[in-house]
Amino acid sequence: MEKKKILVTGGCGYIGGHTIVDLVANGFDVISVDNLSRGSLKMLHGVETVAGRTVKNYKVDLCNADDTEAIFIENPDIVGVVHFAAFKSVPESVKEPLLYFRNNLDSLVNLLQCAQEYDVDHFVFSSSCSVYGNAEVLPVKEDAPLLEPECPYARTKQIGEAICRDFCVPNPGFNVTLLRYFNPVGAHPSALIGELQEKPENLVPVITQTGIGKRRDMQVFGTDYPTRDGSCVRDYIHVMDIANAHTKALQYTMSGKNKNPHEIFNLGTGNGVTVLEMIAAFEKVSGVKLNYKLSPRRAGDVMAVYADNSKARNLLGWECKYDLDQMMDTAWKWEVALKKEAEKIQMN
Ligand code: WQD
Repeated sequence: MEKKKILVTGGCGYIGGHTIVDLVANGFDVISVDNLSRGSLKMLHGVETVAGRTVKNYKVDLCNADDTEAIFIENPDIVGVVHFAAFKSVPESVKEPLLYFRNNLDSLVNLLQCAQEYDVDHFVFSSSCSVYGNAEVLPVKEDAPLLEPECPYARTKQIGEAICRDFCVPNPGFNVTLLRYFNPVGAHPSALIGELQEKPENLVPVITQTGIGKRRDMQVFGTDYPTRDGSCVRDYIHVMDIANAHTKALQYTMSGKNKNPHEIFNLGTGNGVTVLEMIAAFEKVSGVKLNYKLSPRRAGDVMAVYADNSKARNLLGWECKYDLDQMMDTAWKWEVALKKEAEKIQMN
């Protein structure tokens, strides 16, 4: 089968790296662009080991239009773009809104400019369930109203989606798929790649860093919510299931199956899980008693959000393959692997 070259932006990051592995496994030829401001070459090397082939990374800031265009000039065989590269910290976006608008939106506009210039017709945009704001109806469907977002990061995702939609109008033949992730967690089963964050804010890496002893303890932010055990409900989904949805989205538009030039898909399991249930799952798979404290609510948290994923299942032929224990088990095995590697470096 002739290779189809895909440009993955943010390919040295968590979801970008796992998606490269899935794209290569499905016969795509992949190159990456990542300025390594958040991503790392350690991730890329792990991806190459898992994928069994080298992956070229362009160390380019996508906010620089000329440098971005140079990639498309050098690679006229790019048929699709999967766009992950963006800043995604909720508290950082509150402190630095202009940094987020500049970085997350300038990069998108430059990429779409190149797609137009170089006839790249397939574009997958990394979006987020945070575009829904505090969704009133659960499970959340793709046609739910987009309420006031929790933070400037989420607003850049709302605006990014609108930019993609408006771009389709004067560019017939251009196909964009907007993928709204719920809570990506876990790591590749090989434990060769996973989430690399020194000071994570997200629940699962905080749990595994507490379990391994990198942190003395962790806090459960709120146990007085009107949920089954008082803690918040989220739709945690394995990063490899998220990755495969990107491959499926490209196959969907490249096969001409999409009826609309832009389609939106929720990427969640459809199951809501509480924070305390996540801790119980960790203790079950790891055998480690977790040191956590019940604490006050965290500002900006919504009580519950989980997906209706039927559209992605029906139109993309996508299924979630990893269950909650596998999500936690792969996250824990990755944390253990990181510790072993750090100990090896210390001994040398
Ligand atoms: C999950 C639950 C916390 C840490 C974020 C972004 C969102 C998206 C996914 C990119 C909440 C609780 C957490 C801790 C805790 N990112 N928690 N103790 O906030 O659902 O979503 O990541 O698209 O934009 O907002 O994820 O993992 O931070 O929190 O109790 O130490 O875990 O209160 O209920 P969140 P999270």
